[in-house]
Amino acid sequence: MSFARPITTRLTRLLNIQTPIVCAAMAVPGINDMAAAVTESGGFGFLGTAFDDVPTLKSTMRTLRERLKTPAGSPVPAGVGFVGWVLDSAPNAEERIVAVLEERPVAVWLAFGDHLERYARIVQEYDAKHGRKTFIFTIINTVAEALRAANEWKVDALIVQGIEAGGHGGAHTPPLFELLPAVIEALPNGPLLVAAGGIATGPQIAALLTLGADGVALGTRFLFTPECAWPPVKKQMLLDADLNSTVRGMAFDEVMTFLGWPKGVNGRAIRNKIVDDVEEGASMEERIKRFKESEQKGEKDRVVVWAGIGAGLTNEIKPTSEVVRLLHEDAVQALQVIVSVIA
Ligand SMILES: Cc1cc2nc3c(=O)[nH]c(=O)nc-3n(C[C@H](O)[C@H](O)[C@H](O)COP(=O)(O)O)c2cc1C
Ligand SMILES: *[C@@H]1O[C@H](CO)[C@@H](O)[C@H](O)[C@H]1NC(C)=O
Repeated sequence: MSFARPITTRLTRLLNIQTPIVCAAMAVPGINDMAAAVTESGGFGFLGTAFDDVPTLKSTMRTLRERLKTPAGSPVPAGVGFVGWVLDSAPNAEERIVAVLEERPVAVWLAFGDHLERYARIVQEYDAKHGRKTFIFTIINTVAEALRAANEWKVDALIVQGIEAGGHGGAHTPPLFELLPAVIEALPNGPLLVAAGGIATGPQIAALLTLGADGVALGTRFLFTPECAWPPVKKQMLLDADLNSTVRGMAFDEVMTFLGWPKGVNGRAIRNKIVDDVEEGASMEERIKRFKESEQKGEKDRVVVWAGIGAGLTNEIKPTSEVVRLLHEDAVQALQVIVSVIA
């Protein structure tokens, strides 16, 4: 894919891409197709491989290499996401990371763990030994985290994730519109900055580039695609969402008994009876019981749909490649229009 008018930023130069649009690492069925399609469309896709063990990681990377027609020995133009606390609880964390690095992704993405520095070090040591450079991206939710990741871990890119974001993130994070300027002020010559959280339109991308972001990472926006393999009931909940439909908290993880998240991290999803159960004071056991019963009966009112506030900005399903093309064109147009306001 080549754009008539590409956008050039520090991020597009680093990754050798034509639009600064990144598909966020997501633990969601279909992510391999979404990520590949974003790369094929001129952006950059991350796989979300949180729970995969070595053989799956290897075969996923090989399938991706084939699909992207990357010659043997060349880096695969995509990235691989790891979830820190899942690695912490795996007996073979280092083996998993090395298994991925052997397949040569251009980048890795680290998030949600108390020992991410250890994993960044494994990547850096592997690279030093093999004369390579794998770009390390990591999610930050505060200025303090940004300083640590930049100055101590020496990562290549910070994913500056605001409170609007879908799925997991900082429970007490500021909105992206305030977090990004604060990080820029604290790190004027720091790593690349990739804005994330609530982004669903081209003009938002134009605004974030204007604010100083080097690129944007979108998660929820790519759930509105045929590539996302969520069932129709979840897709319909996304389509029905407005700007008030999502809520952050631990209620969703609690009923799924999915509880390794570091302190200060919770998740944003579409509000439903799972949250009503908390508000009415039901015990944890009772809430888990209601969730499991709803699931068994195939009821729709306790389905977990991780999504950001931006779900309310999208109301149609379109192929991933089309989404990237439209976002890019709308961003270019917004940038051109805004330049013309200068007298
Ligand atoms: C369904 C879903 C699953 C996600 N899974 C992960 C994950 O496994 N690892 C991760 O680092 N971030 C995950 N995220 C968060 C994304 O990395 C990203 O920060 C977020 O989607 C950005 O906000 P947006 O959804 O409003 O675009 C997930 C988000 C969603 C919506
Ligand atoms: C937003 O959602 C909450 C929780 O469902 C509801 O109480 C409130 O009335 C909603 N507000 C608007 C303006 O729709």
